[in-house]
Amino acid sequence: MTMLIQGGTVVSSTGADPAEVLIDGGQIVAVLQPGSTLAASAEVGAERVIDARGKYVIPGGVDCHTHMELPFGGTFASDDFENGTKAAAWGGTTTIVDFAVQSFGENVQASLDAWFAKAEGNCAVDYGFHMIIGDVNDESLKAMDVLIDEGITSFKLFMAYPGVFLSDDRQILRAMQQASGNGGMIMMHAENGIAIDLLAEQAVERGETDPINHGYVRRSELEGEATHRAIQLAKVGAAPLYIVHLSASEALEQVAIARGKGANVFAETCPQYLYLNLEDHLGAPGFTGAGYVCSTPLRSKHEHHHADLWNGLRTNDLSVVATDHCPFCMKDQKELGLNDFREIPNGIGGVEHRMDLIYQGVLQGEISLPRWVELCATTPARMFGLYPKKGSIQPGADADVVLYDPEATWTISADNHHMNMDYSAYEGFEIQGRVDTVLSRGKVIIEGGEYRGSKGDGQYVRRGLSQYLL
Ligand code: URP
Ligand code: ZN
Ligand code: ZN
Repeated sequence: MTMLIQGGTVVSSTGADPAEVLIDGGQIVAVLQPGSTLAASAEVGAERVIDARGKYVIPGGVDCHTHMELPFGGTFASDDFENGTKAAAWGGTTTIVDFAVQSFGENVQASLDAWFAKAEGNCAVDYGFHMIIGDVNDESLKAMDVLIDEGITSFKLFMAYPGVFLSDDRQILRAMQQASGNGGMIMMHAENGIAIDLLAEQAVERGETDPINHGYVRRSELEGEATHRAIQLAKVGAAPLYIVHLSASEALEQVAIARGKGANVFAETCPQYLYLNLEDHLGAPGFTGAGYVCSTPLRSKHEHHHADLWNGLRTNDLSVVATDHCPFCMKDQKELGLNDFREIPNGIGGVEHRMDLIYQGVLQGEISLPRWVELCATTPARMFGLYPKKGSIQPGADADVVLYDPEATWTISADNHHMNMDYSAYEGFEIQGRVDTVLSRGKVIIEGGEYRGSKGDGQYVRRGLSQYLL
């Protein structure tokens, strides 16, 4: 079907201008100047004209960090691919990159196949995969090369969670050497898990078992230390490095130093680290703080992490905002840690609210309107080999387009969200701006406050190498 999006302001990573977007066969075929002869003839030929007056027309969001159905601490993240990708669509995200998991002792390809099986035929929006390598050995290192050809071009390693996912420095270096040879991107969970586990054990011995202790023991110095170590190892291994879910000023400082020297080091942060904090959220009365247990943890509002992270988003030392969407319900899931914060499954759900939350940063003067699009769509697409199919409005791109109403006001609540969570980490947040209409490869999937898509609309996207390295 030929469609024309008319009357809106097209926002890209470089500017915002009135323009009309012509779509055919699921792709953008032209971006036209309003009032031009071409726009007039496009209107005559279009089978459908979508009125975007008063709206921003932006590329669909690309959330490059989600965990649908992630097994964690004896339970599973509560969104499956069907529900989680629908929630993403509601929030203006039209592509996710989820983490397939190779656990210790498992075969990489078999683990990946299991992730394909979970997603296939179930997704509302397009999806790709990164691979968590939880067991770096000769076999998994070889598998990394094969995965690159299958479109899985990035590999997450953990410096945290000893005995579960942690790779030691030898394993990390080996994986980096492999990535150096095959063009892959190493993604790092950078926290010193061995030191954290000691502090956690000591806290519990002292009877300090409440959720806030999760934040106390995962000290920001230990995120800084691990980030520094990861950067040095990446230099030795000659591999590009992408630090995930960065929350501490100390870690950002290390990234900034490395980038200042021209290293291929990149980092993302997430809305929770910009808007939530250790005292008010992780330290909420009773067991409420469990809903805010995630790793890296929320940081203290009395330090300067929040302001530093916003600054990093401006300077490009932080080049991506992803969600690390990893939802668990309070009931029966977070409750596993009622008597011991170490047993609380780690993660916060947020795939639905990233575009809105970061848009508040535009309104607050933290970032510009084009930077919002760059952080949430264009750079994640480039970083993970999805560009220009995803993350941009230009001829040849997939017609993943969001009409965003900058004037709408509403309040985030578990009562109105679509994620499978019995609470919202952002309950009561007043938001200006709202997703109005969402197109995925030219199909209208959200319109008029209704979900109009169908299960299985979303397709697997075979990714290329990071375009920041080419
Ligand atoms: O708390 C978190 N971040 N849970 C998801 C797993 C991870 O480390 O990203
Ligand atoms: Zn992580
Ligand atoms: Zn994660």
